[in-house]
This record gives sequence, C-alpha cells and structure tokens, in this order.
Amino acid sequence: MALWGGRFSESSDIKFKQFNNSLYIDYRLIKEDIQSSIAWSKVLCNVNILTNEEQKLIEKTLYWILEKYLNNSEKVLSSGAEDIHSFIENILIDKIGNIGKKLYTGRSRNDQIATDLKLWCKNKSKIICKKILQLQSIFLSQARLYQDSIIPGYTHLQKAQPITFSYWCLAYIEMLERDRLRVLDVVKRLDYSPLGSGSISGTSWNINRKKLAELMGFTSVTKNALDSVSDRDFILDILFTASTSMMHLSRFSEDLIFYNSGEVNFIELSDSITSGSSLMPQKKNPDILELIRGKCSGVYGSLFSTFTLLKGLPLSYNKDFQEDKKYLFQGLDIWEECLRMSKLVLKNMRLDTERARVLAEEGYGNATELADYLVRKGISFRDSHHISGKIVLESIRQNKFLEELDLVTLKKFCPVIKKDIYQDLTLEACLEKRNIVGGVSKKQIKIALDCVAQRLLILEK
Ligand code: ARG
Repeated sequence: MALWGGRFSESSDIKFKQFNNSLYIDYRLIKEDIQSSIAWSKVLCNVNILTNEEQKLIEKTLYWILEKYLNNSEKVLSSGAEDIHSFIENILIDKIGNIGKKLYTGRSRNDQIATDLKLWCKNKSKIICKKILQLQSIFLSQARLYQDSIIPGYTHLQKAQPITFSYWCLAYIEMLERDRLRVLDVVKRLDYSPLGSGSISGTSWNINRKKLAELMGFTSVTKNALDSVSDRDFILDILFTASTSMMHLSRFSEDLIFYNSGEVNFIELSDSITSGSSLMPQKKNPDILELIRGKCSGVYGSLFSTFTLLKGLPLSYNKDFQEDKKYLFQGLDIWEECLRMSKLVLKNMRLDTERARVLAEEGYGNATELADYLVRKGISFRDSHHISGKIVLESIRQNKFLEELDLVTLKKFCPVIKKDIYQDLTLEACLEKRNIVGGVSKKQIKIALDCVAQRLLILEK
C-alpha cells in the first residue's frame, strides 16, 4: 500500500504507478536510509515517541532488513514498492506492526531523501578518494620504473621540448591530486544534516538535531528547512568534480592513444587490455582508452542533466528531484569505473625507451637551448630566438639535427658560437638545465617523486 493512501478513494493507474515509482533507482540507498532511520529512532526516544525497548526493536529490525536485502536487490525490486523509503517502511511494519509505524513521526520523505543522498555522497566519496590514491600510486611506480626515460614533449601536438616519462606521470599525479582535494572540499561543504527539516518548515517535535547529525556522522546541521529539502547543490558539486576528473582521464587516454599509435608508437599496450578487428587481422586497438575518453561524455551529461533539472524549480521539494539520483549514480559509477580502468592500463603498458628517445631527438626540441646559449653569450633573447630559428631552417634544408651542423656553419649565423655549444644541445643538457621547482631535471623529478611517495604513504595508511 502507498504511504499516502488515506486521502485517496481510487487506486493508482498501473501505468502512472510505474511512472511514479523510483525504487528501480533508489534501491541503492538502502544502507543510507536505514542508517538515517536508526538515528531518527534514537532521537524519537528523547521526545517520548518511542520507549527504549521500542527503539531497540526498531533498530534490530532495521539491521535485519539491511542484512536480508542489502545484497538481494532482485527481491527489493520485485516488491513493487514505490521507493526505498516505502519498501523499508512496509517491511518494518510487516515485522513489528504498530511500533514500526511510530518511526515515521515528524519525518518526511523530503528530509529523508536529502539526508540519504548526502550520506551516499559521503560514502561514495571515500571509495573514489581511495581509487584516486591507488591510481596515483600506479603512476608513481611507472614514474620510478622509467625515471630517466626521455620522451618527446608536445605543444599543439608538435614536438616541443624533451621531457621524461616520469615527468609525464607526475603531471597526471598532480591533476589527480586536485581531483582528490576537490572531493574532500565537496564533502566538507555537504556535511550538514538536513534531517529534522520535515516536509519544508522543520519538525514540530523537539528533536535535538545536532545530536541527530552526530549519530549519522555529520559535522553539523543545515540552517533552514526550506532550503534543506530543496538543496541539491552537493550533487552538482560532486558531478562537477567527477567531470573535471573525467576530463583529466580523457586527456590521459588521448595521450596514450597517441603514444601508442602506429605513427608514434613508443607505448605498447599488452594483449590483455587491447582488442582486435573483426575484419583486419593485423589490428590491435586501444579500445579501453577510447572508452575512457568516450565515457567522459556520460559524466558531463549527468552534470548538465542535473543543472537542467534544477533550473527554475520553485521552492521547495518537487518530484523532479526524483530524477537526480539517476544522474548522480550514473556520473559517479562511470567515474569510479574509469579510475579503475586507468589503473589497469598503466599496469599493462610498456614504454619503448629506445624509440621514445629517437623521437625526442627529432623535431629540433633543443632549439630553445641554442637560443638560451646565445643569451648566455650576451645576445638578447628576441635576437637569439631569431638566430636559432634560422639555424633550424638550415638544418631542415640539410636534413640534419642542430647538433650535426659543423662549427663553421653555425658561426656563419652567429660568430659567438663556440665548440661548447655541442654539450648544450644534448637531450640530457636540455633536461638538466631546467633545474627549477617544477622543472624536468633529474634532481627536481627526484624531489617530486619523493614528495608524492611520502604523501601516499601517509594517506594510504
Ligand atoms: N522518491 C522520492 C525522491 O526521490 C522521495 C521523496 C518523495 N517525496 C515526496 N514528497 N513525494 O525524491
């Protein structure tokens, strides 16, 4: 029976009932709904709605429901209940009758669902943060494995300057760290319990909301009931965070797709994570990476669907909100899965260090070094940039690397060039010169890796 049947003399049209039901989505909130119900039962004792014995019986039965149904979603889904709140209520009343009915004193599904969603976001955030740390950890091991391996660095997808593979890994560790901090920030902002807000204007029972919040692990309570039942900002916040992180993962995927392409080809992906073509026998495709890149769109979709859902809604609760869970669950599930898949990719890739080095040598990635050399000899950077450009042009004409031009040729472009130029043009020199915080020199990379390792050690405890 529906929770609200009293006022109705006709039963629901079956089609409307199906349309209205949300159990098929919100069954996932069973743990959170039971957690908040147990907390609610405890504060009901303080206002003499429940005796201690009654509270204990309710709590015991709620745990029993959790144990029986948490991993039995088929049973839950086939119950025909309107939503997870009705499902739990029906079973509770079925088991303990009138005592169970008392639990619904002073509480509305409006404050109940807002509370459950916040609890769910907090739980999921913990899982996501753990996944981020694990992914950072794999990046760190790969960075260590290929600590001194040089690869070409790109801008505009044109070779720019040499970097190392570990440096590339460190860039993603940074992005992921910002993602992790964003999650923590979202949790901090949502960590206020809406329970006790009732339908829209607060409950008429003298509930200790602070104590109630503490029982559920919230830092404190929300300040306005009307806002509390209408607020879904935290869903937007977490979906924005997911979107940003997915954008990072899509760029990571794109980098590896490019490095793995037939033309570049310095990254090899193992057979276990690649797939073939039904027609072309020679193919070995990086589907896993393309899927991560592609699934990013689903997370953006969730964010924008939620924005659109909320736009222009009058205060306070509107049934439109029921749709929010679909987007929230979809967005965060995709994110979690893609974090897991990215880890799998990193575990199953190999860098062809020889080939990466050869590619880094091509493309005149040391032209900046030549310009900087001239600056050290007293020429202004604008002029040295121009001279270095002319020398690049000559090298292209002769089909040679910069360092393959002889001193006589180089001197024609600028007489201050001496024999010592050649040591500045090696790949190693290009890296070592950048010995500045955040730079690509060996020393800086070692500092950065140690710093990440230390952070992970503390956080993974
Ligand atoms: N299933 C509903 C939701 O997800 C629960 C809240 C229902 N509240 C109401 N006033 N009908 O939003």
